[in-house]
Amino acid sequence: MRSSVLLSVIFVGFGAATPLQQSRRYVVKETHRVPWDFVRQGDAPGDHRIRLQVGLKQDRFDELERHLYETSDPDDVRYGQHLTASEVNELVKPSDKSLRLVREWLYEHVDPEDITYSPASDFLSITLPISKVERLLETKYSVYRHTDGSTIVRTPEWKLPLHLHDHITAVQPTTSFIRTVPQSSMFLGSAGKKVQAKAHRRAGNGTVSKVCDADNVTPLCLRTLYETVNYVPQVPGENQIGLANYLGETNNRSDARIFLQNYRPEATAGADAYSIVSIANGTLQQTPNGPGEYFGMEGSLDVQTLLGISWPTPILSYSTGGEPPEIPDVDHPIVDNEPYLTWVNYVLEQDFVPQVISNSYEDNEQTVPLSYARVVCSQFAALSARGVSIIFGSGDGGVSGVQPGGSCLSNVNNQTQFIPLFPSSCPYITSVGGTFGFGPEVVAYHPENKYSSGGGFSNYFPRPKYQDAAVSGYLETIGDEFKGLYNCSGRAYPDIAAHSINYTIIWNGTMILGHGTSAATPTISAIISLLNDALIADGRAPLGFLNPWLYKRGKKAFVDVTSGSAIGCNTTGFPAVKGWDAVSGFGTPRFSKLLKAVGLSEDVSRPHVQQ
Ligand SMILES: *[C@@H]1O[C@H](CO)[C@@H](O)[C@H](O)[C@H]1NC(C)=O
Ligand SMILES: *[C@@H]1O[C@H](CO)[C@@H](O)[C@H](O)[C@H]1NC(C)=O
Ligand SMILES: *[C@@H]1O[C@H](CO)[C@@H](O)[C@H](O)[C@H]1NC(C)=O
Ligand SMILES: *[C@@H]1O[C@H](CO)[C@@H](O)[C@H](O)[C@H]1NC(C)=O
Ligand SMILES: *[C@@H]1O[C@H](CO)[C@@H](O)[C@H](O)[C@H]1NC(C)=O
Ligand SMILES: *[C@@H]1O[C@H](CO)[C@@H](O)[C@H](O)[C@H]1NC(C)=O
Ligand SMILES: *[C@@H]1O[C@H](CO)[C@@H](O)[C@H](O)[C@H]1NC(C)=O
Ligand SMILES: *[C@@H]1O[C@H](CO)[C@@H](O)[C@H](O)[C@H]1NC(C)=O
Repeated sequence: MRSSVLLSVIFVGFGAATPLQQSRRYVVKETHRVPWDFVRQGDAPGDHRIRLQVGLKQDRFDELERHLYETSDPDDVRYGQHLTASEVNELVKPSDKSLRLVREWLYEHVDPEDITYSPASDFLSITLPISKVERLLETKYSVYRHTDGSTIVRTPEWKLPLHLHDHITAVQPTTSFIRTVPQSSMFLGSAGKKVQAKAHRRAGNGTVSKVCDADNVTPLCLRTLYETVNYVPQVPGENQIGLANYLGETNNRSDARIFLQNYRPEATAGADAYSIVSIANGTLQQTPNGPGEYFGMEGSLDVQTLLGISWPTPILSYSTGGEPPEIPDVDHPIVDNEPYLTWVNYVLEQDFVPQVISNSYEDNEQTVPLSYARVVCSQFAALSARGVSIIFGSGDGGVSGVQPGGSCLSNVNNQTQFIPLFPSSCPYITSVGGTFGFGPEVVAYHPENKYSSGGGFSNYFPRPKYQDAAVSGYLETIGDEFKGLYNCSGRAYPDIAAHSINYTIIWNGTMILGHGTSAATPTISAIISLLNDALIADGRAPLGFLNPWLYKRGKKAFVDVTSGSAIGCNTTGFPAVKGWDAVSGFGTPRFSKLLKAVGLSEDVSRPHVQQ
């Protein structure tokens, strides 16, 4: 290492015209147009400190991707042979040359001791005042105000010395105007409403029509509908579920306790058993909200749904920080708010990672700079390669973005477009749409708050091979109806779906109803986790990255959803059809069929479900 540094120094010594010196010239590395709904307010405060993350080119990513696809393809001899953390690190580490050049550059500006490295050295982090970052990236940060009044510090463009362009993949926070949204922003009514007593009905022998009340959906209903009601987890502890919280969300134990007492009494101890981890100063608040505060609704929906279905499988809940607690203004704008990279880099550093991780958050893909989306998505590939099923909700705005009523304007040309979401658009995760109804199950649409199950096609990530047959069939079926409004060559989502309206939740001590793909996401996560439990108990590997298996074999275990559509942008949006579609994927799961699809006896799941 030392001698190669010396070599390049000698090389520089040749004179002014050497290629290396010329390449010290700064050249624009990335430009990302400021979204229409942000207006520049002024210069960013130069002394505001930010944690800069520098992503280095992962030298053997193609190889990592090959390993991922081989170990998750049920027809491959390596199926289920998930990689270890050190095997993954070996594949994602940057070349010696990349690391050397990037360090040489950083050392000119910062103290080497202030730099922290990810285990594979593919990410370097350093906390610096904005004025210093501006020199490092030859840029100028500004404060931008969103139409909702919140403010954020970003820059539309940054530069790097030319000789580093091929070695650095992303630097954040720079251009990402993302506004991560929990996919359950819709909670209706009912604070103060009495908890419904019907919940105490005995589990196990009811039919869906007896145990399901469309106005108050409970764990017993979901467990009966999806046939996990008689399954008793065999290896809890060996098998775990992860739950990601961002944006100040937490999982309140006392609310979870009330929920379980009412809706799954035998699981009540679960409310005090889940582990909580704070990442980047993420809040673990368990105290009551102040007046007018509404933290923890998403967190309650997520943890209660998981506990209600998968108990006693242990839950590991992550709360990732990044947003200051006060209302941001021009003097205290949001700087971080980039939850995924911080979270996934933390998780990749751990020796143990739960086999399924539930994430109920999304952003409009166009607000995420391409470099950031690529870096985060490749980190998801690294996590998937370790045998983790990463589950995301497909969004609540139909084809119009993270929430209903989006403007449907492209950030590229200001034309009307369907707005795809990230991370659902990343091909290495599984995206979950929402349904309602119990027979038949149809695509979710909520007439009051306009929640509509999300679906679409990425503009950033091309369609992965595993979806080719399913998606080309769908495109033929829908024909030209929405031509020009979406990118038919992109990764299409969702992959599967689950019920998503009128989840009965306890929040702040009272019952509320939760809706959205945020509800479907922990439901699917819990069911996949129970399937992993059965596999592990049988001496087999957990499923890991689901999609190659889903699109080949797993799809048979899902009930096709064939009516409803991803309403949005003043259109009916992508329709559900027979087979895979871009609003419900392959449909909703049935546990007996899942067991059969992985070659296990289906008996455990449904002795009495259909009467
Ligand atoms: C279901 O019914 C069977 C008999 O039909 C009974 O043995 C079993 O205990 C019941 N299960 C539950 C959970 O009530
Ligand atoms: C949800 O519950 C409300 C009552 O709180 C009911 O009016 C509505 O029809 C239910 N929605 C669905 C889709 O069942
Ligand atoms: C962590 O959060 C607390 C409370 O919000 C705050 O007082 C503290 O300064 C934060 N620490 C860091 C290192 O950001
Ligand atoms: C984008 O288009 C909308 C609607 O057509 C228009 O109102 C808006 O002014 C346009 N914005 C820009 C920046 O051109
Ligand atoms: C459509 O998707 C492809 C494949 O991901 C991509 O290369 C292309 O740039 C996208 N087109 C637009 C207009 O974003
Ligand atoms: C939360 O509960 C407390 C105590 O019951 C109550 O004072 C407060 O108004 C509640 N907050 C909301 C937003 O309902
Ligand atoms: C969280 O738990 C506390 C008791 O530990 C409870 O008083 C409070 O209402 C809960 N907060 C929320 C937001 O649910
Ligand atoms: C939908 O149509 C209404 C009425 O024509 C219009 O005001 C609105 O801007 C349109 N919305 C979108 C997303 O196209």
